[in-house]
Formats: sequence, structure tokens, C-alpha cells
Amino acid sequence: MLDQSTIDKINDAAQIQDVISDYITLKKRGVNLLGLCPFHGEKTPSFTVSPAKGIFKCFGCGKGGNAVHFIMEHEQISYFEALKFLARKYHIEFQEREFSAEEQAIRNDRESMFLVNEFAQKHFSTTLHNHIDGKSIGLGYFRERGFRDDIIQKFQLGYSLDQRDAFTQTALKAGYNKSYLVKTGLTLEGDNNYLADRFRGRVMFPVHTLSGKVVAFGGRILKKDDKMAKYVNSPESEIYHKSTELYGIYFAKQAIVRQERCFLVEGYTDVISMHQSGIENVVASSGTSLTPGQIRMIHRFTENVTVIYDGDAAGIKASIRGIDLLLEEGLNIKVLLLPDGDDPDSFARKHNASDFIDYVEQNSADFMRFKTNLLLKDAGNDPVKRAGLINDIVRSISIIPNSMIRGEYIKECSTLLNVEEARLYHEINLLKSSEKEKTATRTQNTPDDFPPHFEEMEGGSAYISKFENEERNILQLLIRYGQKHMYYADEEQSQAVTVAIFTFEELDRDNILLNNPLHQLLIEEYKMHFDDETFNSERYFLYHPNAQLSQLAADLVTEKYTLSKVHSKVKKVEPDSERLLELIPRVVYEFKNSLLLERIRGKLIELKSASDAKNNLLANEIMREMAELEEVKKQLSKNLGERIIIKI
Ligand code: CTP
Ligand code: MN
Repeated sequence: MLDQSTIDKINDAAQIQDVISDYITLKKRGVNLLGLCPFHGEKTPSFTVSPAKGIFKCFGCGKGGNAVHFIMEHEQISYFEALKFLARKYHIEFQEREFSAEEQAIRNDRESMFLVNEFAQKHFSTTLHNHIDGKSIGLGYFRERGFRDDIIQKFQLGYSLDQRDAFTQTALKAGYNKSYLVKTGLTLEGDNNYLADRFRGRVMFPVHTLSGKVVAFGGRILKKDDKMAKYVNSPESEIYHKSTELYGIYFAKQAIVRQERCFLVEGYTDVISMHQSGIENVVASSGTSLTPGQIRMIHRFTENVTVIYDGDAAGIKASIRGIDLLLEEGLNIKVLLLPDGDDPDSFARKHNASDFIDYVEQNSADFMRFKTNLLLKDAGNDPVKRAGLINDIVRSISIIPNSMIRGEYIKECSTLLNVEEARLYHEINLLKSSEKEKTATRTQNTPDDFPPHFEEMEGGSAYISKFENEERNILQLLIRYGQKHMYYADEEQSQAVTVAIFTFEELDRDNILLNNPLHQLLIEEYKMHFDDETFNSERYFLYHPNAQLSQLAADLVTEKYTLSKVHSKVKKVEPDSERLLELIPRVVYEFKNSLLLERIRGKLIELKSASDAKNNLLANEIMREMAELEEVKKQLSKNLGERIIIKI
């Protein structure tokens, strides 16, 4: 947790033009600065920085925010990490909220484990580069495999001596606590204080978290030995959960965003060799099948995944199951089969980046098509196998969240499998309804559209309601003009209410809560300050300690054109600030109108089922309620000063 005064200090020190100039060249253009957007490829600059407001906005790709948001986006790190990053840059002491004793103990534990890992990584690297055995055995091995020195450095590769406890003794002498050496798995403990190094005589591959901390190691033996496992890995621990880490993500994340694609391979050496050949948007699942946590991590950076398979098709069918999980997460998946006998490591060593990319472009296949063809080949004319195959394909298609894409696949698979589309639809519906029954019994108490609780929204799965635009229009005006009084500049009406007071009164009068919990949170926070004349809403929310509120504020402040959605009968040229008296009631009423329409729509559905069931009494009751709602709507339209055309 971070206290507000630290955030304020950081934001005061981090002048936006200063922060951004570290990354791109900015040229003066009027009161603003202009440059080429670092977040999408462009040749004419549309990336604008306003030093006065402390914000940036790209009119090409739409990204915008303050200095902290820029760092988040550019470095692909969290809000908290970005604040820390800037604090370091501007030499500001990073003051965190105090933790309880219990919290502190857990933190100390975790931090100590990371510290031990960091020490170990440095130790293994030093051994590799300086120790006589490290150089001849470890470095010799990497060189023989063709790893360049810069790549060995970048991935912080190392060597662990072939001695019982060389590392453990060094660490103990350096003051590291035995218990953390054991907890991280670097040291094995036996009876009578017997201590031994886990990774004796192995070359070392550190595994980095998303933010670059060493969370685990993989150690590879150097000679072929069937009695010994090729790799030994760190055990699961308080800091290391294999299922939520991806090898290479720290080095890949920026390239993934830039290339809008993530390559997925199996092993450490595949990732490293691909980097060496110039392809950096690559991560490895480290030999196991993908987990939902890993998939979600990829999804934070891209929607597009290409899974690369070795040429020897042995493991393909088994691993195909894991890919269904990617489908379910809504990712677009391609599959790339390498030539027989090659894995990504050997292939990357034989080809430079542009040849590799050419190969990718010519040989990537859509996953569903790939899977269907593969299974078809396998099934041949065996009717039983064919039935199983259809079942399998149908299952894969049914979990794709987007119905348009589902439709495309159904069409295509119907041709490939020579089965009618209607039958595929039928099978998919059967599957879906049995799934629904299962989930219905599980979640009886929570209605489908229940908004997720605010805290659970960390991680970017933003909640979007039906009234997203209407709510945003209100918040946008509120955040920009909340403390302004609602009167025309030429009519001196000092008694006029503020935008905030008008808005809150209108919402409260009808007991309206905003549907998106984050939006409602903004309202609640604002309400705590509405009578403070010096309250600067823009600044308050832009630099809010809650990352999501701060991002929302940045979006609202930089979104220039939303208000054009608020249609006006007469095209006005005055700026928004001059027509608050017209704009504010309009956006509030439009929101209320949408809510009403939604309720009427709901009544219509109820009415239909009532008349289907021939329940006349109920139908009459519903019609009476509808008439009431229509009456309210009429009033509302009158307030709006124009008839609203309704489409149901
Ligand atoms: N792996 C493991 N333990 C093993 C074998 C494999 O943890 N005994 C994991 C490692 O993360 C490895 C990945 O599975 O990187 C893929 O295995 P493999 O293809 O056999 O290893 P490579 O990374 O290709 O290593 P190399 O090229 O050196 O054989
Ligand atoms: Mn390999």
C-alpha cells in the first residue's frame, strides 16, 4: 500500500515531458508537444503531450494518461511498480503504508526468499564467467550450443559447481539464513545438519517473474545420462508457483505487445535461441501443459498466440488438449509445425529472424483447422473414430466465447468433416445446455449479471455494463467540470448549482447506482469532496492511489470525442465548458432514459412468457406496469426538450 503524499510527491517531480523524452523525441507544437507514438507503428506523429495538464494522448491508437500511466504501458508494469520506477528516477523516498506484524512477517519471508534467489543467480553467473570449472565446463557448454555472450548475459545464465555444498557454504558465509536457502530449494537438508546443493554440476537457467525478479531456477546436466533427469527445477514454494509463471515473459512482454503476438514453445533453450535469432515475443510453458493462470498472463499482452511444435509429431496430440484452454480464454490461436527433426532451438540456430518470420507466415495454420485435419488423418474411415472426432471438434468449438468466430468454424468444419452445419449447431447447443445446467446448480444464489465485487477486478478484467457509454459521459463531465457552476457565461447567476451537486441530486432522487462498480466508486469518492471549493477533481482522480480509478480518470480526461456522441439538435461551436447548462442535464437524462428502456424491454419479455403461458391476469398486471414506465419516459422526454425516438 502506498500513501497519498508519496504519490503526490512523485507526480509533482515527474514532469510528463521529462518522463516521456527518455523514450521518444518530442517537438513543440503550440502549447503541446508532439511525437511518434511508441505504442503503435506510425509515420506521422499523432502522440500529443500536454505539459500543462500533465497528460499524454495518442490520437492514432487512443492510448492516454499521465506520466505513471505512460510508464505502465511502456514498461508493461503495474501501477504500483510504475510509481516505484518514477520514485527511483526522481530520488523520492518510497513510503509504503505500515504493515501489520503478521503481514510484515509474510513479506519478510517472501522478500528474503527473493533475496536469496538474487544472490544465487549472481553467484552462479560469477562462477560461470570467473571460476576455472565454470569457464571450461559451463561456458564451454553454452558456447558449444552456439549461445552468444550477450544472450548468456541477458538471460543471466550460470553454472553451479559439481561439489556437495559449494554454493550453500558461500551463501551461509555471506550471511544468508539457512531456512531461506532450504525454503527456496537451493539447498537440500538431511539429518544431522547435512546440507547439499540442489543444482550440483549443472548449468543454470533463472526463471524471472513478470517484473524481472528471480523466482526459481532450472538446472541442466551437461552430459547425456539416462539415469539422471535432464533438468532439475526449483520446488514449489511460498514464492514459486509453477503454474502461474511463464519462462521468458519478462524478456518478451514488450515485444509481445509490439508484435501483437506471442509465440509459445516448450523449453528454456527454445526461448533463448529464438531471442538470439531476433524473435523476442516468445515464452515457454517449461515442458508442462499450459495452465489458466499462464494463459491469462499472456492475454494481458495480446490476443494472438502461435504455438510452435517440434517436427516429430509425437507429443502433438497430447498437447492439443491444453490448447482448448486458450480457446476458452478467447484467444486467437495458430499452430506452427517445424520441419521434421527440428525444435524451435535448432530451427532458430539455422535461420535468421527474417527467414524464421517468413517460415512462420507461410506455415502457420489456424488451430481448429489444424486439429480437424490432424484428427481426420488419424481416424481414416473408421466410423467409431470419426464419431469421436466430431465430438472432440464440437467440444472445442463450443467453448469459443465469440459467437461470430464460432459460426465461422462451424461453417468450415462442416466442409472439412462433411457433416451438415445444422447438425454441428445442434450438437453444440446440446453441449452448451448441459454445461449451463451444471453451472446453474453451482451458482444458484448469484444472478448472471451480478457485477463482480470491486476488489476482484484487479488484473484488468474490467467490468462493462450495458450503460457503459452513458455512465462514462456523466463521469467525464463530472471529472472535468464537477466544481463548476451551471450557468451561461453571459448570465450572471451566482446561485446556480455545481455540476456535481446537480448530478448527485438527479441520481439520488431516483435511487440510481451506476452499473459499473468502478464508476459508482468514483461517484462515492467524489461525494466526499463535493462541498470543498478547492477540490480539484481532475487531479484528485488522476493521481488516485487506486490504480483502476486513476486509469479511468486518465481515460475520461484524455477522451476528447466522447461528447460528440451526445447528439445535439443544433450544432454548437462553443466549448463544453460554456454549455454545461445544456450538456449536464442532457447526459443525465439520456442515462435515465436508457435505464427506463431497459426496464421496459424486460417487461416485454415477461409479457411474452405470461401470454405464452396464457396467464391473462399476470399479463394485465405487466401491461399496467409498462404503462407506468411509459408515462415516466414521457415526462423525461419532456424534460429533455425533445421527443426521444425509441427503438426496442
Ligand atoms: N523439462 C523439465 N525436466 C525434464 C525435462 C524437461 O523440467 N526432465 C522442462 C524444461 O523446462 C525444458 C522443457 O521441459 O526446457 C522442454 O524439455 P526439452 O525439450 O527436453 O528441453 P530443452 O529445453 O529443449 O533442452 P535441450 O535443448 O537442452 O535438450
Ligand atoms: Mn531442445
